[in-house]
Amino acid sequence: MEQLNHCSSPLEISKNAFKEMGYRLIDTVAEFYETIKEQPVTTGETPKQIDTVLGNASLPENGTSVPELFSNTTDLLLNHSLLNGHPKFFGYITSSPTQIGALADLLAAAVNPNVGANILSPMATAIEKQTVKWLAEFIGVSPTYGGVLVSGGNMANLTAFLAARTAKAPKSLKEDGLPGLINEMVFYCSKATHTCIEKAAILFGHGLKAIRWIPTDSKNKMNTEILLQTIDDDLKNGKKPFLVIGNAGDVSTGAVDDFSAIAAICKLHDLWFHIDGAYGIPAAVIPEYKNLFSGLEEADSIALDPHKWLYAPLEVGSILVKNPQHLIDTYSSHPVYYNFSKLDDESEVNFYEYGFQNSRGFRALKVWMALQQIGKNGYIQIIGEDIALSQFLFEEAKKHTELEAVTQNLSITTLRYIPAGYAESETQDETYVNTLNQQLLNELQQGGEVFLSNAVVGNKYCLRCCIVNFRTTKKDILEIVDIIVREGKKMHEILQRK
Ligand SMILES: Cc1ncc(COP(=O)(O)O)c(C=O)c1O
Repeated sequence: MEQLNHCSSPLEISKNAFKEMGYRLIDTVAEFYETIKEQPVTTGETPKQIDTVLGNASLPENGTSVPELFSNTTDLLLNHSLLNGHPKFFGYITSSPTQIGALADLLAAAVNPNVGANILSPMATAIEKQTVKWLAEFIGVSPTYGGVLVSGGNMANLTAFLAARTAKAPKSLKEDGLPGLINEMVFYCSKATHTCIEKAAILFGHGLKAIRWIPTDSKNKMNTEILLQTIDDDLKNGKKPFLVIGNAGDVSTGAVDDFSAIAAICKLHDLWFHIDGAYGIPAAVIPEYKNLFSGLEEADSIALDPHKWLYAPLEVGSILVKNPQHLIDTYSSHPVYYNFSKLDDESEVNFYEYGFQNSRGFRALKVWMALQQIGKNGYIQIIGEDIALSQFLFEEAKKHTELEAVTQNLSITTLRYIPAGYAESETQDETYVNTLNQQLLNELQQGGEVFLSNAVVGNKYCLRCCIVNFRTTKKDILEIVDIIVREGKKMHEILQRK
C-alpha cells in the first residue's frame, strides 16, 4: 500500500544529498573567495561568446542530476562573470559583497519568509524593523525614522517621491488623481542627480519639464541661491513646488550637497526634503565626516543602499522616512482578501503597507547580520579605509605627469590620462583628450586587469574610480596607476597612427 507520509516530489532533495551538495558548494565558494585576487576582474567575453559557452539547449523535458547541475553552473558563473568582489573593481557603485551576506541569503531562502505581512514572517519582520532602526542610528538620525528595505537606489528614490507627492498634494489625490495639477507640480534637484529622478517624473505623469535642474558650484554641490530663486520664480508663475532632492554623494563625483541650506529653504516653502544617499550617506558614520552631512537630520526621507557602501550582496536598498505614516498614507490598501492587520498590537508592522511590493523577500537578513558581524566600529574602519584609498589615488594621480587628477569626494576619484608633454602643448585639444580617455576606458573594461567607469566633469571625460571595496589595498592603487598610464600610452599611439 502507498505510504501516506511518503512524498515523492522530484524537487525534494534528500537530507544526505543536500548536505553533500551544500558542503561541496561551500568548498567551491570558499576557494573562489580565496583566489579572487588572482582572477581577471572580467574575462571580457562578448555576449556572443558567452551565449556560445552557455549553449542554446531548449527547455529540458526531463531532469538533470543535481551534482551535474551544480558542477555546470559553478563553472559557468565562476569562470565567466565580472567579479565585483575583486580588489581592482572600482566600476559604477557595486561593492565587494560580504561573505556573511552570501550565507544569510542561503538561510533566508531556506526559511523563505514573505516579509509583506507580519503574520507571514513574524521574526523576519521584526529583524527588518530592527535593521531599519539600526540604519537610522548608523547615519545619526532620530530613531523615529521608519522605513522599508527595497531592491536598490532607484526603488528607494521612487518610493520616497510618491510619499512626498502624497504628503504635499491635496488630500483628494487618492480619489481624484491630480487633474489640472499634474503639470503644475514641480521639483528640484542638482544637475548631478541620478537619472532615477527622471524616471520618477516620466512614470508618475509629471513629465521631464517638471524637473528643475539646479546648477552646481565649482565643488559639484547644488547652488542653493539658484535653488531659492528658482522656487520663487515658480511660485510667481503659479507652479506648485513640492520636493527638493539633495545628494549625499552624487553618482558621478561623490559631492555632498549643503543639507542645512536646503532644509532651511524647504522649511520656508513647506517642501518635502529628500536626500539621495544611496551611495554616500553611510560615510556619515565617520565622526570626522559628521559636519559634511550636517542638516541631514532635517530630511523628510533618505535613500541608503546597503548594497553599495554597506557591502551587502545585491539586491538591497532602503528608504528611511522621518514620519513613516507618510509611507502608509501612500501605499497602504486593505483588500478583503488580506487578513493581516488584526493584532491590535502597536508594534505590528505589515511591510506591504510601506512600499510597492506585497510579497517581499527577506533582504534585511544579510544587512542585519553584517551590522552585527563587525559593528558600527568595523564599518567606521572600512568606510574610512575606502576614503583614504581614494584620496591616495588622487594624490598619486596629481604627482604623475601623465595623469590629471580631476575630483575627489568620499571614495570617488576622477582622473584623466594626458599624453606626455600634452598639457603644455599650446594646441591642447580637449576633444582629443576626451576621445582618448573614452577609448582607454573601453580598453580597460575589456582588459580584465582593472574595472573603472566614467564621469563627465564639466567638459572633461574622466575615468572614475569608486572604491566601495573592502579588499582593495594601497598596492592595488599603485598597480592601477601603472595600468592606466601603460594602457593610456598604448591608446595614444594607436590613435596617433590613425
Ligand atoms: C546616488 C545614486 N542614486 C541612485 C542610484 C541607483 O541605485 P540602484 O542602481 O541601486 O537602483 C545610484 C546608483 O549608483 C546612485 O549612485
